[in-house]
Amino acid sequence: MTKTATKDLLAGTYTATPVYSKTGQMILPAHTLLTTQQISRLEFYGIEWVNIQEVPADTSEPDTKEEEFVSFSQKIRKSREFHTFKVDYKNKTEILESSFENLLTKNTPVEADKLLGQVSSLYANHFTSLSVFDMLHNMRQIDDSTFAHSVNVALIARMLGEWLHLPEEELDVLTLAGLLHDIGKCTIDPKILSKPEALTSVEFSQVKMHPKNGANILNSQKLDSRIKLAALMHHERCDGSGYPAGLKRDEISDFAKIIAIADVYDAMTSNRCYRKGLCPFEVIATFEREGLEKYETKYILVFLTRIIDTYMGNSVLLNDGSIGNILLINSQKLSRPLLRLTNGEYVNLAKRPDLYIQGII
Ligand SMILES: [Fe+2]
Ligand SMILES: [Fe+2]
Repeated sequence: MTKTATKDLLAGTYTATPVYSKTGQMILPAHTLLTTQQISRLEFYGIEWVNIQEVPADTSEPDTKEEEFVSFSQKIRKSREFHTFKVDYKNKTEILESSFENLLTKNTPVEADKLLGQVSSLYANHFTSLSVFDMLHNMRQIDDSTFAHSVNVALIARMLGEWLHLPEEELDVLTLAGLLHDIGKCTIDPKILSKPEALTSVEFSQVKMHPKNGANILNSQKLDSRIKLAALMHHERCDGSGYPAGLKRDEISDFAKIIAIADVYDAMTSNRCYRKGLCPFEVIATFEREGLEKYETKYILVFLTRIIDTYMGNSVLLNDGSIGNILLINSQKLSRPLLRLTNGEYVNLAKRPDLYIQGII
């Protein structure tokens, strides 16, 4: 890794660490292939220097358009960081699965410290090098079980808690709340949970029992009451449209509101049996359309803005088949950034309702 002044940067080199603006906004993630446009952006943001990865001396200059747009996902999947994350993640979801089983069949006490230790280490060990979001995005293609969903929600909720500057002790409670929020699903017939067709009203009312069933399971445990409330209230919505009780904004626990956002984000981006997983930009567009009344405003705005920052500099695929790099985020329309296409054209998605981002590549 070499610390290089922005004025001396060369297109075709890779960032070694993420680049942040003076206000803490992520401008480029680690391992980004620098293009001349990205170097101009760094100058625009007043970045004075960047950590660059060492390049072997015999590497020929990557100067073709295709090389400029090497898939970010491909790079992640090939990276050593992703490989160790994958192994670690699999171990952790297996531990969670056996701990759920013991709780349900033998009523064994939840080993809160052990569970938390597992997930916190997953978070701490992998957060700095590559974004947890990028890794989860790639993990979903490999493992999409309820247990994996619980680990995802725990990681996403912890990250949102950090963005909200919650103290460490509350982050731990929030992480456990994420891990245990769907424990009630273990009481629902697995055939219903994995049914590819639309559910009948009887089946849907059974699924809707899982928050209450989960809270009942956790009530017999020595756990922070906010964890029990998150299990009970994570499907409640601020506008009263949720279940099981149709509670309103002030009646819903704060942790349940945070878990609700992490839960919906993970459910929408995962590949469920009934439809292909949505791209994070489509999810953000959905949140933008209906999010503000359903979710706690002060949480959802921080969440969406920070998620978008995570994908800054990535290559994306548009619905017309063209590929581009994200150059600038439009704070009024988070799902519609300014892009530079592979053919050199600039596209402002805020002014092109016919186009939308279909996937991150
Ligand atoms: Fe749930
Ligand atoms: Fe969930």
